[in-house]
Amino acid sequence: MIEASQTIDILLLGSGGREHALAKKLTESAHCGTLYIAPGNGGTLEVGENVDLNENDPAAVAEFAREMGCGLVVIGPEAPLVVGVADAVREAGIPCFGPGAAGAQMEGSKLFSKQVMERAGVPTAAYGSFTDEESALAYVREQGAPLVVKADGLAAGKGVVVATELAQAEEAVHECFAGAFGEAGSTVVIEEMLTGPECSLLAFTDGKTVRPMATSQDHKRALEGDRGPNTGGMGVYSPVPIVTDEEHATMEQIMVDVVVELAAEGIDYRGCLYGGFMLTPAGPKVLEFNARFGDPETQVILPRLQNDLVEVMLACAEQHLDEVELSWSDKWAVAVVLTSAGYPGSYEKGKVITGVEDAAAMDDVTVYHAGTAVNEAGELVTNGGRVLAVTALGDTFEAARNLAYEACEKIEFEGKTLRHDIGLRALKGREAWD
Ligand code: AMP
Ligand code: GLY
Repeated sequence: MIEASQTIDILLLGSGGREHALAKKLTESAHCGTLYIAPGNGGTLEVGENVDLNENDPAAVAEFAREMGCGLVVIGPEAPLVVGVADAVREAGIPCFGPGAAGAQMEGSKLFSKQVMERAGVPTAAYGSFTDEESALAYVREQGAPLVVKADGLAAGKGVVVATELAQAEEAVHECFAGAFGEAGSTVVIEEMLTGPECSLLAFTDGKTVRPMATSQDHKRALEGDRGPNTGGMGVYSPVPIVTDEEHATMEQIMVDVVVELAAEGIDYRGCLYGGFMLTPAGPKVLEFNARFGDPETQVILPRLQNDLVEVMLACAEQHLDEVELSWSDKWAVAVVLTSAGYPGSYEKGKVITGVEDAAAMDDVTVYHAGTAVNEAGELVTNGGRVLAVTALGDTFEAARNLAYEACEKIEFEGKTLRHDIGLRALKGREAWD
């Protein structure tokens, strides 16, 4: 355990809203000395020092952390995890929050993750995996629609097609093998289509102990009514009101079973394991695992976490998470993402953003930066598709939701786009999914 009066300098990798939320929570800790964020964004520079460092270069990251005397490295996104940045940092003798390349395969390869789930006896969609187009197409025709076609590797959330028609599934298979996702699509996983509400359960783990976090639910589609293309996430809330105690217990057990299986296979997973679930009529089943915090899930989970995040992350990195119990605020959290018009397709950057300070000054409101930057004139401008996530806390789900939307109205930039139905379905109850 870190001494009460001890401070450490920390390096955080990433540049999204997730990283701004992590940065804020880390700097709230009395243990946090200087926080370096590589590369960071227009929000992280308010709480730490943005540094120009290639987050995907294991040697460069380890070298920077060593030179600066960092006592902890926290890895936000999946790409550095998959290329082994955590391994390099640990080899340099520095505690690291994030799995090594082997554990990151839970996200980096859908097939690997399916095989771990099978060996752990964890419920997930039935599937086949293929490395050539002909056998994949034969399987698709034999199974018939609906089917879900997934590129095996990292595809920035774009490698999954839920095909309701046979022709759509065939097209998706063809696209993967034609190279639409590069190397990521050279293996294809084809799954049965599951139905039900989705729910995410993230967990801290040190490879031995698992401490599940609060539940959350993202809204992946770009348009209201869950229509339009998939995005990184348009809004999220925590906890998920429609989950039963039994479903919750099942999801927690699944997280434990998977970490135990990984450990049995020699993978000591230290970081955040993200379980994406579908609450099917036959119980919760896993849709996917991610090897990191979710974005925007982090923007509703961390504001509700009452622990000192540096202590929790160090406990994961140094394997004494059994000494930590998590505690959560009773408040509800809702986050609405403000995007640039056109996202997830092409969009313009450099639009001046106003009203962030007014929104952030509201009680129980936090504005997390994602695609923002500060221009030469010192103005805050848009610099990405997902620009800001506006999180509000409330004593009821409805109060949190209303407050989030009220805060969103104070912020303006040309092309500002948002979904107005974040959390609406959950507010109506479980029947809204029937
Ligand atoms: P993934 O990246 O694997 O989570 O997939 C992205 C989204 O596709 C999920 O959030 C679900 O909405 C959907 N999806 C993935 N797998 C399935 C499945 N087997 N059945 C139904 N929907 C799925
Ligand atoms: N919001 C979904 C993810 O982070 O993968």
